[in-house]
Amino acid sequence: MTTNRAVQIFKHGGVEVLQLNQIPVPTPGPGEVLIKTAYAGVNYVDVYYRTGLYPIALPFNLGSEGAGIVESVGAGVTKFKPGDHVVHMSTGAYADFIAVPQKIVAHVPEDFSLEVAAAILVQGLTALTMLRESYEVKKGDTILVHAAAGGTGLILVQLAKALGATVIATASSQEKLDIAKAHGADYLVNYSHGEEQWVNEVLAHTKDGEGVEAVYDGVGKATFDGGLKVLKRKGTFVSFGNASGAVDPFKINRLGEKNIKLLRPRVFAYVYTQEEFEYYSNELFKYVKAGQLKVNIHKTYALEDLSQAHRDIEGRGTTGKLVIKL
Ligand SMILES: NC(=O)c1ccc[n+]([C@@H]2O[C@H](COP(=O)([O-])OP(=O)(O)OC[C@H]3O[C@@H](n4cnc5c(N)ncnc54)[C@H](OP(=O)(O)O)[C@@H]3O)[C@@H](O)[C@H]2O)c1
Repeated sequence: MTTNRAVQIFKHGGVEVLQLNQIPVPTPGPGEVLIKTAYAGVNYVDVYYRTGLYPIALPFNLGSEGAGIVESVGAGVTKFKPGDHVVHMSTGAYADFIAVPQKIVAHVPEDFSLEVAAAILVQGLTALTMLRESYEVKKGDTILVHAAAGGTGLILVQLAKALGATVIATASSQEKLDIAKAHGADYLVNYSHGEEQWVNEVLAHTKDGEGVEAVYDGVGKATFDGGLKVLKRKGTFVSFGNASGAVDPFKINRLGEKNIKLLRPRVFAYVYTQEEFEYYSNELFKYVKAGQLKVNIHKTYALEDLSQAHRDIEGRGTTGKLVIKL
């Protein structure tokens, strides 16, 4: 086979800019692994690339992670061989074949399906690295997780519970909050009734109303101000996404009122080296194997239905992970 299907964009916009094209099957270069994709994960970042919120060079091959079977390997690759089941976090993942640098490829553990592997990697590594490095969650901490029934949110809730934290979860409906509770959240707050209300409710769930040790916020613009209000003195604000839009510029002096630490992490900079990628992938898989992290797949779509998957995640109608079957 010389060509394969891939989702490309040539301009930014709505789902109408998504094109399913035939492009040449890549040849793996030195240090690269050619993977025949079985499943790809849907991530909110794909929406940001599509709309132009995150700058990229066009044309751009969309998709951020996938799982499949090694087809062939480039020069110098010794860790992988044809037939291996692998998972990767690379752009261009919505394609039948993808050549990926080996440093961001991991073997899929024997007892995992390829679908589960594609569903867990990016959001799982994001949650795990943020709970370890952005703010190291300790037993006895109380933390706030926004959009807790989303893909990343449900993983944050479960891992934070495994680390011994008390978790306050927000979401926009009771149905979503119930799902967060079923995954271990201790306190539930519907944040769709206005900032004053959710801020007061969150504070009421903290010791002496003093606030939380850390806020994990992938919602962005809509929740930033409230997040500063629910943090305790010397708390940490982990702002990791923009589902409601990018956070507006603000005066840095505001952090001084409570000596708040503010981070804007991206997972790619935490698992940059092969050692970091291997370390955190192995940790992540251990949590799944131990039953401490359940992988919650909302729906698996055909590649031809990627537009619908984008509409669904942007429309706030989903919980857990969206997966594409190739
Ligand atoms: N920094 C990183 O490296 C990194 C890595 C992975 C993900 N992320 C970020 O994490 C966030 C979650 O990503 P995900 O893939 O797991 O998606 P997701 O949480 O499954 O979906 C996004 C959720 O955001 C909430 N939301 C709040 N306001 C929204 C709005 N105006 N429009 C749409 N959704 C809104 C919705 O939950 P409610 O209906 O409950 O509000 C929605 O379900 C995103 O911001 C993403 O960019 C960052």
